[in-house]
Amino acid sequence: MRAITTAVASGKGGSGKTTFSINLACSLAQAGKKVLIFDADVGTANVHIAFRKKITNTLIDVIQGTAEIQETIQKLTPNIDLISGGSGYTDFINLGIDKIHLTIRAFAALEGIYDHLIIDLPAGISEIVVEIMKASDNNFIIGNNDPSSVADAFALLKVLKSHQEKMNIIFTANKVETLSEAKALHQKINSLTEKYINLSLRFLGGITASKDYDFSWSSGIPCCLEDTTSKASTEFRSISKGLDQPAERSCSGITFAL
Ligand SMILES: Nc1ncnc2c1ncn2[C@@H]1O[C@H](COP(=O)(O)OP(=O)(O)OP(=O)(O)O)[C@@H](O)[C@H]1O
Ligand SMILES: [Mg+2]
Repeated sequence: MRAITTAVASGKGGSGKTTFSINLACSLAQAGKKVLIFDADVGTANVHIAFRKKITNTLIDVIQGTAEIQETIQKLTPNIDLISGGSGYTDFINLGIDKIHLTIRAFAALEGIYDHLIIDLPAGISEIVVEIMKASDNNFIIGNNDPSSVADAFALLKVLKSHQEKMNIIFTANKVETLSEAKALHQKINSLTEKYINLSLRFLGGITASKDYDFSWSSGIPCCLEDTTSKASTEFRSISKGLDQPAERSCSGITFAL
């Protein structure tokens, strides 16, 4: 069976995409799944930092033709691997549509190895965000409960809808106080998207605010990596369970095939 591909985006920067991607990967790995994280924040990739790892080969090497995609895989834990977008480059911030498609196609060389591919996207609306979301099975929009986060999420969804009619979008509120707040925020944005762009957003749960996430960045041990009983692990488990069933492919164009 092919890997389930899940992209993680947000309109606004700093909403918690990378923290979410990492902990979702840890939660799936805890359930015995083999997970590949693709850090698509090309040029300013930082997933490796959360695991205190150094990166050698990156996606940039694949794009430049100096490495095969298999040679860029970095082991983070026994069940989680990483392909990094590289950091400290400026030439590759705007990859252009051809290089983005080349990147998506390159993943086909990894067919049959992974159960899940989790893609941490850069903030905002750009070609790489739109093309990767179009090519993925599940698409998370991570939002916070503030007006600019809601406005930016709506702007991204509007652009996505103009590119592709049918998309599997999950809106997940992060840094909220309670699950009820997460539900209310989902309802608020879903009523906007249903009314104005005829798009329904799925709800799989929410992530409450905790200083443990900041601490985990500095310790190099993500919240959901080892402690299976914490609130964070419980919240991520309930979300990751929703990804168990491969979603229907919504894209008629280029998709991840691994
Ligand atoms: N649920 C949470 N509770 C408390 N702090 C959180 C939570 N989720 C993320 N954070 C904190 O928010 C900050 C930004 O998180 P993160 O880097 O994951 O955001 P991002 O959306 O990936 O940012 P960027 O747009 O720059 O890529 C970090 O300091 C992180 O520890
Ligand atoms: Mg990030």
